[in-house]
Amino acid sequence: MDNVAAILLAAGKGTRMKSGLVKVLHPAAGRPMIDYPVTAARTVGAKPVVLVVGHQAEAVQGRFRAAEDIRCVLQKEQLGTGHAVACARDALAGFSGTVLILCGDTPLLRAETLKRLIDFHRAQTAAVTVLTAMMDDPCGYGRVVRDNSGKVLRIVEQKDADPKERAIREVNSGIYCMDAAFLFDNIDSVGSDNAQQEFYLTELVAVAAGKGLACLAQCSGDAEEIMGVNDLSQLAEASRCLRRRINRELMLSGVTIVDPDQTYIDQGVAIGADSTVHPNCRISGTTIIGSGCVIDGNVSISDCRIADNCHIKAGSVLEGSELLEAVAVGPMAHLRPGTVLHAHVKIGNFVETKKIVMGEGSKASHLTYLGDAEIGRDVNIGCGTITCNYDGENKHRTVIGDRVFIGSDVQLVAPVTVGRNSLVAAGTTVTIDVPPDSLAISRVPQVNKDGWRLKKK
Ligand code: UD1
Ligand code: CA
Repeated sequence: MDNVAAILLAAGKGTRMKSGLVKVLHPAAGRPMIDYPVTAARTVGAKPVVLVVGHQAEAVQGRFRAAEDIRCVLQKEQLGTGHAVACARDALAGFSGTVLILCGDTPLLRAETLKRLIDFHRAQTAAVTVLTAMMDDPCGYGRVVRDNSGKVLRIVEQKDADPKERAIREVNSGIYCMDAAFLFDNIDSVGSDNAQQEFYLTELVAVAAGKGLACLAQCSGDAEEIMGVNDLSQLAEASRCLRRRINRELMLSGVTIVDPDQTYIDQGVAIGADSTVHPNCRISGTTIIGSGCVIDGNVSISDCRIADNCHIKAGSVLEGSELLEAVAVGPMAHLRPGTVLHAHVKIGNFVETKKIVMGEGSKASHLTYLGDAEIGRDVNIGCGTITCNYDGENKHRTVIGDRVFIGSDVQLVAPVTVGRNSLVAAGTTVTIDVPPDSLAISRVPQVNKDGWRLKKK
């Protein structure tokens, strides 16, 4: 849409969050809350988006440092939403058109709703249009006061409302469209004579109504969408709504989610059709999962790329790893960052990996630690194998060639190389390189002492 700018209020500390972290940076479904209204504003084509920052300004601003369409302005003291909007004046100097005003704490707001609001505002050539909703429990929100004919008169905050006004169920979302000229001509007339002694942006509604200008309310009909997050309980509620949307979208695109109420998939995660996610999984960050995969219960996956037809078995934790076709992992395996598993690799229970590449068809089926290693194809890593990669100061690499067979209970003291097609006997501690096609064995010969137990008695 042309000629739309946005002001996004994000300077408040969020006192009711009772947290050291500023409110708008608290994550909802894996993204800081502030990301959601920014995305919605961009989707409707708002340019620029003026971000009003205050508390932990550096951190909030930091998220958008590279963004050309975002201008940050500092509100040094948080004197109220009206004062915050006034801080955006210089950043919008010369702009004429529609100013969309959004809050940093409404992560459920949809871009389609904003588009409808802007269309309505423009069709009516209004000075102010406020987005409202009917709420069964309007507690904490500003109430929309209308006259007998339904004309909007003003918005009254919970703390300033009398009992009759508190009974009103139509609430202010804190989201508005305003004509730029009206906004900046009148914002300075807003006073702070109210219960909180703050400059309320909501007062502009009464100003417009008082001047006989078109002052409208569009009732969105979806109370959930305009929900403002003021405390951690509301954050949990908003996150649940976001997850429900994410899961629904995935299911409609062909992903089987066995119990959507107990599946925690973050915003931005992609999963292909015909994959199945079992309960109690957490899938987060930049994760992309292909089609035909099975993710068993109690699995946690963050920042991974997983190709088609992989099976992640129960209780596994995967971080920053890449899995090619038809890899099987777990149960109870831990893939740490930098793990790359080529097609048909099998990682079994109680195996930990870190910064390794494992070639096609290789297996480490049980109780093993593989770190800083390069492992070829069709390699068998026996139960209890350990790459001793750390000497207390530095990390060292282990290289294992194609078709090597490592027996059980082997320690590979890095840096060390096992040449292709060699066999390392069970119980061996490998300290020197093994040439290709050989046997490495370092066992103390066994001695049997006949009748030893009997003599002891
Ligand atoms: C505000 C509205 C209320 C509405 C509700 C919807 C006012 C006076 N009240 O109340 O009518 O029902 O939102 O959620 O506008 N902020 C600043 N600088 C400030 C104060 C606030 O940037 O000086 C930012 C906050 O960071 C937040 C947003 O403005 O993102 C809203 O502030 P908040 O204190 O949450 O307002 P509410 O009390 O929820
Ligand atoms: Ca709020």
